[in-house]
Amino acid sequence: MTILVTGARGNVGRRVLDRLHAAGHPLRASGRVPGDLSVPRGVEVAELDLTRPATFDAALRGVDGAFLYAEPDGAKELFEAAARAGVRHVVLLSSSTVSGPAAATDPLAAHHAAVEDALAASAVPGTVLRPGAFASNALGWSHAIAAGQPVRIPFADAHTAPVHEDDIADAAVAALGDASSAGRTITLSGPRSITFREQLAVLGALLGREIPVHELTREEAEEEMGRFMPAPVLTSLLDQWEAAVGRPAEVHDVAPVTGRPGRTFESWAREHLDAFTARS
Ligand SMILES: NC(=O)c1ccc[n+]([C@@H]2O[C@H](COP(=O)([O-])OP(=O)(O)OC[C@H]3O[C@@H](n4cnc5c(N)ncnc54)[C@H](OP(=O)(O)O)[C@@H]3O)[C@@H](O)[C@H]2O)c1
Repeated sequence: MTILVTGARGNVGRRVLDRLHAAGHPLRASGRVPGDLSVPRGVEVAELDLTRPATFDAALRGVDGAFLYAEPDGAKELFEAAARAGVRHVVLLSSSTVSGPAAATDPLAAHHAAVEDALAASAVPGTVLRPGAFASNALGWSHAIAAGQPVRIPFADAHTAPVHEDDIADAAVAALGDASSAGRTITLSGPRSITFREQLAVLGALLGREIPVHELTREEAEEEMGRFMPAPVLTSLLDQWEAAVGRPAEVHDVAPVTGRPGRTFESWAREHLDAFTARS
C-alpha cells in the first residue's frame, strides 16, 4: 500500500509527503538526486527521473498510488511501468493552462496536456489536478521587495485567482484517498480574483510600507524577462496577462475537494512574510 511522491522536495510535493506521513501512510519519496532529499523518519527514498525510463521500475515496485509532476518526456513509458507495477491510482499535478483560452498555442499547456493524454491512454486510473497561478509566484518579487526596490512587472492590473500550495496538496491527498476520483479532472484556484497590484498592496500592508510598482511595457518585459525565460513561454504568459487586465479570473472553489474553504492570498502572504523582509 506504498504511496510514491515524486518531486518530494518540490513546493507541492513536499506538502503532499508531509500530509500523507502525518496520516500514517507507508511512503516512498523520489527525486532525481535522492541523496538531496530530507524526508520524515520511516519514509523510503528512491531515485526517479521522469525523463529516464531506466529509473522507473525500481521506483514503482510495490507502489499502490502515486503523486506525479508532469514531465512529457518519458510519460508514456512511465505509465506503462506503473501499469506493470500494479499502481492503482495516479494523481497528476497538471495546469489550468490546458483548458485556458490560449491552450492551442501555449507551450505550458502543451507540456501538461501531453502528460494528461498519456495518462488517459494508459491502463492506470488517474485524477488530474489543474491548478491556476500559484500564490508562491509572488516569491518572484521577494528580492526587490526585501531590498526596498520597486517591483518591475508588466500588466500590473492583470487578474489571477492565486491558489495556496497547501490547497493543492490537500486536494492531491484527498484525491489519493478517494478511488472514485479516478477519471476526474479537477480545476483549482484561490478563493478570489485579485490583480498583481492588489497582491503587492496586501504584501505592503503586512510589511507596513508601500511597495512601489514600476509597470513595464510589453517590450520592456520581453527584454527583461527574456533573459531567463524561453521566448515562446514568455510570449504566452504576456498574452495571458494582457488579456487578464481588468478581467477577473475564474474562481474554482476547492472546498468540494478538500473539505475546507480555499486559503486567501493574504493568508499565504502572512505565512511567507519573512521571504519579503531584508536580512541583516
Ligand atoms: N507556478 C504556477 O503558477 C503553476 C500553475 C499551474 C501549474 N504549475 C505546475 O506546477 C509544477 C510546479 O510545482 P512546484 O511549485 O511544486 O515545483 P517546484 O517546487 O519547482 O518543484 C518541482 C519538482 O519537480 C521535480 N522534477 C522536475 N523535473 C523532474 C524530472 N525530470 N524527474 C523527476 N522529478 C522532476 C523536482 O524534483 P527534483 O528534486 O528531482 O529536482 C522538484 O521536486 C509545474 O509542473 C508547473 O508547471 C505551476
